[in-house]
Amino acid sequence: MDNDIKNLEARFNEDIKNAVTAQDIEFLRVRYLGRKSSLNDLFAGIVSLNKEEKARAGRNLNILKQKITSCLDEKLKGSQSSEEKFDLTFPASSGDKGSLHILSRVNQEICAIFERLGFDIIEGAEIEDEWHNFTALNFPGDHPSRDAFDTFYLNIPPVDPEKGKHLLRCHTSPSQIRVMEENKPPLAVISPGRVYRPDEVDATHSFMFHQIEGFAVDREINFSHLKGVLFYFAREFFSGDARLRFRPHFFPFTEPSAEVDVSCFKCSGNVRGEKKCSVCKGKGWLEILGCGMIHPHVLEFCGIDSSKYQGFAFGMGVERPAMLKYGIDDIRLFTENDVKFLEQF
Ligand code: PHE
Repeated sequence: MDNDIKNLEARFNEDIKNAVTAQDIEFLRVRYLGRKSSLNDLFAGIVSLNKEEKARAGRNLNILKQKITSCLDEKLKGSQSSEEKFDLTFPASSGDKGSLHILSRVNQEICAIFERLGFDIIEGAEIEDEWHNFTALNFPGDHPSRDAFDTFYLNIPPVDPEKGKHLLRCHTSPSQIRVMEENKPPLAVISPGRVYRPDEVDATHSFMFHQIEGFAVDREINFSHLKGVLFYFAREFFSGDARLRFRPHFFPFTEPSAEVDVSCFKCSGNVRGEKKCSVCKGKGWLEILGCGMIHPHVLEFCGIDSSKYQGFAFGMGVERPAMLKYGIDDIRLFTENDVKFLEQF
């Protein structure tokens, strides 16, 4: 009997350590003090003991019962007071809120600038065909960028064999064709989206990046309209005193064509020589886009009379201006989804 009492006490001491909630404690009260408890069994066994043992066992069992009762009461009080510490009426914290990806923000910012000038936003298709990506944009049949080294072709049968193979568009210019095929001028359209090129990935190149295409078609559109629109954009996006530089260039779908540089928004082109500006690397200019007057062939391919209508077009990347403006030095950061990077913006 003495041993049974000791064992029961040891078991109780173990169980009470693990009891946390009021419910756990009530469960133990039933187990250790209830009608079917071992303690009760031991009390019942007293009758079979001799007189001396009876007295000792009775005393020890009563002491244990007392201990268990006060131990359970104590613990219950503790658990209630810790529960009372929760103020259930306190407003919940909202937790971590998500936010727009920095590229989406820059994309929206750029589109909004052109929207203020009256441009409509139309998304093109990421899966294109050779007709829209090349032919209707006046690329000759043997142009090197049609090569599989420069374009991702898709291994699926063409829907319309006359439109050629399917591919992932390598620029947003096919949006021009899509819009002009289905709409009559006057047109002023911005078309943002993803483009794909089989480039080796490094700090400034990726096989997928974003571009924004812009174009306008109407009677008597000329190069000065293009300059005016791009000038407004540069002053809104980069800096209020931005200057532009047009360098002659070649694109099959524009004539004449130009590449455009904006004066460095950090040093305004004034920091040259030894103290190289961290943004323009001392050049004073940042290359931002390609543009030109839409080639008459392109208008004709889309059924627009090039003797009556003219248009201008431009195309710019999104990653590069975002990197320049926000001091991001590696293009891979945009797609790695590291929250520590993303939540800075
Ligand atoms: N599509 C050209 C590129 O990806 C950019 C461009 C668009 C140039 C429109 C002229 C007119 O480089």
